[in-house]
Amino acid sequence: MMFLVLFQHYIYVYISTLQRRQQTSIRAPSFSLSLSPPAGRMLRFARRLLSNMPESTVYGGPKPQTEGRRVTLNQLRLKHRRGEAITVVTAYDYPSAVHIDLAGIDVCLVGDSASMVVHGHDTTLPISLDEMLVHCRAVARGASRPLLVGDLPFGSYESSSSQAVNTAVRVLKEGGMDAIKLEGGAPSRISAAKAIVEAGIAVMGHVGLTPQAISVLGGFRPQGKTVCSAVKVVETALALQEVGCFSVVLECVPGPVAAATTSALQIPTIGIGAGPYCSGQVLVYHDLLGMLQHPHHAKVTPKFCKQYGRVGDMINKSLSDFKQEVENRIFPGPSHTPYKIGEDDVDGFLKELEKLGLKEAAAAAASAVENLEKIGRSSMETPAR
Ligand code: KIV
Repeated sequence: MMFLVLFQHYIYVYISTLQRRQQTSIRAPSFSLSLSPPAGRMLRFARRLLSNMPESTVYGGPKPQTEGRRVTLNQLRLKHRRGEAITVVTAYDYPSAVHIDLAGIDVCLVGDSASMVVHGHDTTLPISLDEMLVHCRAVARGASRPLLVGDLPFGSYESSSSQAVNTAVRVLKEGGMDAIKLEGGAPSRISAAKAIVEAGIAVMGHVGLTPQAISVLGGFRPQGKTVCSAVKVVETALALQEVGCFSVVLECVPGPVAAATTSALQIPTIGIGAGPYCSGQVLVYHDLLGMLQHPHHAKVTPKFCKQYGRVGDMINKSLSDFKQEVENRIFPGPSHTPYKIGEDDVDGFLKELEKLGLKEAAAAAASAVENLEKIGRSSMETPAR
């Protein structure tokens, strides 16, 4: 016991020293004494020792976010200047955010496409700000590295610049996002983008096909296919740059129009259905994974989308395998029945059940002990495949 106390004290002193060194290196860049990887590992190990969180909980404990790793606007600018392509993928919940983070994607966009791919609506119009904020918070918990951009949903920013600023502030404060995206290039949208930038919030613009405007566009129609419409795409993107947007999404415009816009702008263009001449590309998570293989989604999956997987098929197969194994009483087998009760406790438990008059329950428990042992033994004897 004494040894444990001394050891914990030693570890505490060690952590404090490491933390002081770490803080010094953050506060004084000229004296950049950063932790070597072994010291970092030692710090994590030491924190673990002092933590009251059990090492292995049923669902795993919370993981600390790694500080100082978030992709910044400066890093995006640097990539753009170097001619490196910027990657953007949408996410709507914790697991999609974790996957996007693990893949090293630069920007995670909590798009209002959630309205279609998550909520099953035919358009992006119905999703509310409160619903978007729930998606934003879940994504912020899952993705610690990518820059997080939250879409302003339809109806949350069109009335005035102050409405737009208030909504943008909520997306950052309540949604945990780093920046916002808004659609369109009408003068009122440009003013809204300007006001949000002036409020200290980074803004991504969105021109070409702007799905929130299907009412006036007459449906999900590509833009920039006539001289007038193509020039409008370039001019709108320039206007968004002028008011301080850090990048612009170009959706569903012909390749040459995207190339002209990319060349005319100093900020990066992020294409979707706009061909290769953009500074980066964005796709919707479910579309790129081939996740929704059902008629509704087949109807709304755009033709420019490349499916990098057929995750939907895998989901279908896994679900029907589960159904079949449960119905045939194959699942759960011994390897998925992990919790044991000791022999003495089993005896005590059976006696207590009998005392309670639960004879059949006691018999069921006794036979389960026997069967589980038998199945366990036979599975250990089965040679590994
Ligand atoms: O809502 C969204 O997902 C988007 C992308 C398609 C750019 O706006």
